[in-house]
Amino acid sequence: MRGTFASIVVLSTASVALGALIPYSQLKARSYRHARSGLLDCLDSAGFDPVVEGDSAYATDASPFNLRFNWKPAALVYPQDSAGVAAAIKCGADNGVKVNARSGGHSYAAFALGGEDGHLTVSLDNLRHLSLDGTAATFGAGNHLGDVALYLWENGGRALAHGTCPYVGVGGHTGQGGFGLPSRAWGLLADQITSLEIVTADGSILTASKTENADLFWAATGAGASFGIITSFTAETHAALDSIAFAYTFADYGAAEASAGLQAWQAFANDPVNKLDTAVGLQIHVNPGLSPSGVVFSVSGVYYDVDEATVNSTFAPLLAQLGTPSDIFLEEQDWITSVLYLAGVDSVLQLNTTLAPDTHDTFFATSTFVPEAAPMTQAASDALFAYFYGPGASSAVEWFAIFDLYGGGDSVIALADKDTNAFDARDSLYSIQYYGTIPASVSDADGIAFVQGMKSAVEINQAKTQFKGYVNYIDSTYTADEAHTRYYPTHTERLTALKDQYDPNRVINFPQDF
Ligand SMILES: Cc1cc2nc3c(=O)[nH]c(=O)nc-3n(C[C@H](O)[C@H](O)[C@H](O)COP(=O)(O)OP(=O)(O)OC[C@H]3O[C@@H](n4cnc5c(N)ncnc54)[C@H](O)[C@@H]3O)c2cc1C
Ligand SMILES: *[C@@H]1O[C@H](CO)[C@@H](O)[C@H](O)[C@H]1NC(C)=O
Ligand SMILES: *[C@@H]1O[C@H](CO)[C@@H](O)[C@H](O)[C@H]1NC(C)=O
Repeated sequence: MRGTFASIVVLSTASVALGALIPYSQLKARSYRHARSGLLDCLDSAGFDPVVEGDSAYATDASPFNLRFNWKPAALVYPQDSAGVAAAIKCGADNGVKVNARSGGHSYAAFALGGEDGHLTVSLDNLRHLSLDGTAATFGAGNHLGDVALYLWENGGRALAHGTCPYVGVGGHTGQGGFGLPSRAWGLLADQITSLEIVTADGSILTASKTENADLFWAATGAGASFGIITSFTAETHAALDSIAFAYTFADYGAAEASAGLQAWQAFANDPVNKLDTAVGLQIHVNPGLSPSGVVFSVSGVYYDVDEATVNSTFAPLLAQLGTPSDIFLEEQDWITSVLYLAGVDSVLQLNTTLAPDTHDTFFATSTFVPEAAPMTQAASDALFAYFYGPGASSAVEWFAIFDLYGGGDSVIALADKDTNAFDARDSLYSIQYYGTIPASVSDADGIAFVQGMKSAVEINQAKTQFKGYVNYIDSTYTADEAHTRYYPTHTERLTALKDQYDPNRVINFPQDF
């Protein structure tokens, strides 16, 4: 709707300016074709076989994970190496076409496809090398989380902390944080990176680390989509650990019990006296399900490197407040079994993303970081759970909310200096992701509004807190200013200055960029 309105306005003013001799639509189409053929000529000369609209592969290659979007890239290319990435960036720069990297393509706003029409997408599918040198792993930016986890496990039982979905790409995930259940002990995936290779907007292939191009390294580990195309990451791995997976389900809760449950959970997680071990990854899941209320609340997670008795004694004080669960799940798992369990898959073959295509969803998601210094108020959690157990119980939107504990105890995420890298939310106790799959029976606007209602329930009822959001759960409705305020409240100034330095012409660019 807004797009149609804007183009009508532009058409009429342009027609007036040109004395209405050439309709603006035709003028625009001509200059677009001109720029586009310049781009294609350049890509051809660089040895690419670009995929463009009209090609049989285009529909599939330009299809995002989130089917709410249908951006039309001017072209997609698949370089074989960093030199190819550099050549592609130069073609974009020389022809005034904006460029985006695509790793796993899981951006919630499909920003790897530009976030608007007419960009050049540099797809990193061929950059899938993996290697280990002692405990240091190097992996190409075209790998997905499942490939990395499988490779590390199979080559000496090594591991990294990262997210759960096997098909999420390392490029977006690492570049913008990357949270997983071991992150309270090992940090975000970005925090575990020791160096990376990045091709900047001028086509330079640079190594960046804490000691080399340190400002670029700082920016690319947290705001990675804005400073070039990262081609490879090197990370310090850990010995893979056995663990106990736990899940305490409360199907009998109503809104009041669930709100009290959240209050008990956040106090337990942040108890300054009985500090929660950093080897605990802790969540709350809330979603529609089989229960008297139609909604199910569960406290779950993974406790690494302990026995079941320790899990029981650790959670006894919390369970004393939560009441008797309707179901308790406890399972001893080795590392790769835990990775499979968290991914919701059965076989290690399902971690190898070269063996089966990715899935899609049609969804809107957004997030809130709840600060350690300002835990959720009773009023806010009452409103949130009234929403979940009220409108949520009957909504046609297939929603869930996940609360991920980042801080509490001696969490290394929270203890690290707040300016360690561009990730700008180390003061958080936990994140809340609000996610809704929007079925065909619900309009896009209504689906978005339903999910936004979850966030508003919290934030309107705790208006004194300046809430942040998680950039890897990028909210497609934010303007650039809103995005900077939510994702980089204290780092925007430095990131904008670095953007001016490394990409003054905004060659690498998406709608929420600096
Ligand atoms: C099913 C699912 C589960 C998830 N689970 C988790 C989770 O457990 N924890 C968590 O933290 N997050 C999770 N996420 C969010 C996920 O981390 C982000 O969606 C992430 O940004 C996806 O990365 P990608 O490479 O797949 O996406 P892409 O769409 O390829 O990239 C995302 C952004 O990064 C840019 N980019 C990609 N590669 C590069 C590169 N090499 N260099 C520079 N810029 C690049 C793109 O241009 C785009 O702007 C999940 C997402 C989904 C869909
Ligand atoms: C995934 O499968 C391919 C094809 O069999 C294989 O070459 C590759 O090594 C596998 N990757 C991992 C991480 O095991
Ligand atoms: C832990 O608690 C569960 C559920 O109450 C119980 O079945 C199990 O026996 C306990 N395990 C140990 C080692 O105490």
